[in-house]
Amino acid sequence: MEVGDIYECVVDRLNHQGKGICVIDGRVVFVSDSLPGEHVKIKIDYVSRKFVTGIVIDRLSDSSSRVNVKCPYYSFCGGCDIMHLSYSFQHEFKFNKVNDIIRKFVHENIKINEVDFDEQFYYRNKATFHVKEGIGFYKDKTYDLIDIDKCLISSIEINNVLGILKKMNLNGVDQVIVRSSYYDKSVMVIFSVVGKVDEGYLIDSLKDIVSSIYIKKDKYRLIYGSEYIVDKIGDLKFVISPDSFFQVNTPMAYKLYSKVRDYAGNLDDSNVLDLYCGTGTIGLFVGGKAIVGVEINESAIHDANINKDLNNISNCKFICGDSGKVLKGLNKNFDVVIVDPPRSGLSPLSINEVISVGAKRVIYVSCDPVTLARDLNIFKEFYDIREISLFDLFPNTNHVESVCLLERR
Ligand SMILES: C[S@@+](CC[C@H](N)C(=O)[O-])C[C@H]1O[C@@H](n2cnc3c(N)ncnc32)[C@H](O)[C@@H]1O
Repeated sequence: MEVGDIYECVVDRLNHQGKGICVIDGRVVFVSDSLPGEHVKIKIDYVSRKFVTGIVIDRLSDSSSRVNVKCPYYSFCGGCDIMHLSYSFQHEFKFNKVNDIIRKFVHENIKINEVDFDEQFYYRNKATFHVKEGIGFYKDKTYDLIDIDKCLISSIEINNVLGILKKMNLNGVDQVIVRSSYYDKSVMVIFSVVGKVDEGYLIDSLKDIVSSIYIKKDKYRLIYGSEYIVDKIGDLKFVISPDSFFQVNTPMAYKLYSKVRDYAGNLDDSNVLDLYCGTGTIGLFVGGKAIVGVEINESAIHDANINKDLNNISNCKFICGDSGKVLKGLNKNFDVVIVDPPRSGLSPLSINEVISVGAKRVIYVSCDPVTLARDLNIFKEFYDIREISLFDLFPNTNHVESVCLLERR
């Protein structure tokens, strides 16, 4: 099989990234923009010993799960990858993905709940636009810019700002990050600069529609408006600084945090540990007799302390540092531990330290089912894996969030 070869085949199933899988001459070929059952003519565009990829040059039959994609940039933009699946099929795909990974790697009959979801479009409260000869996103796996007019998954407020950015002279700027609040619709703009910029011009161009403008060179510097914007999850308000983590889909974050609170049970008499706490959102949301949050990013800890005061919560303490190392030095008197690590999952030190806490319940929030499965295999020696609930925080992409309840045996 060589690059440029042309084949006709029928797509068998989807891989975990949402690409169609065809088997041709005993070789697995991954084909973008194809769905199970579709008869396609493909051209091979990459061959290695491990895998082969192909692109559809003619679709000879359509799956009933296919929809017309409204985004004109979809076929080359690196952002969304499953927008051609109907929204209900996106959820079936995400459920099957987690189910397959958990069955394959954890080998247990674990209850997995259907995917919970909300709006399919205009949900993202953060977008990173690159600036070159225009402004937009990079083509998939390249640094080639796609100049875009609109992004169907970014909030309306972000799109409004993009409309103005497109008319501006952005000399000296290489990236623009736009963050918006679902709650009060306020917007923060961060210009990442590589050359000289006219700050007065940037402010004058945007001040009517944004509430905060930063310049980022080595560090972040506020040049206009308020230090942060504020969003709300449930009854709580949270500040968002230029570089601290905040869930990109606010209404879905509410659903996910509510599930964590359900799994945690009544916390009136419980000491709660919120590991990888970001700006303290989950710990503050679920409550407890006393809450300790641990997070490596200093500016997130700074925001966590503001969030605590903003919501008049006093029984909460935030510690800045690596989760495993901090936990090793802590008095481990916790009834419930919540972990929400990045895609890489828990470090070996963190997982050992969490197990040594001996909490009655551990609630694991994961954005990557593969590292979740790896970590569950270690937990399962000491904990029963009760159930997993799934949340679609990233519609039109192959990503899915899992919340898993573990109970000490
Ligand atoms: C998926 S986010 C979760 C944040 C928070 N729970 C939320 O819902 O907004 C993961 C967080 O882990 C932090 N982090 C990454 N590595 C860490 C480490 N080794 N120790 C502590 N925190 C870490 C990141 O800075 C980030 O804020």
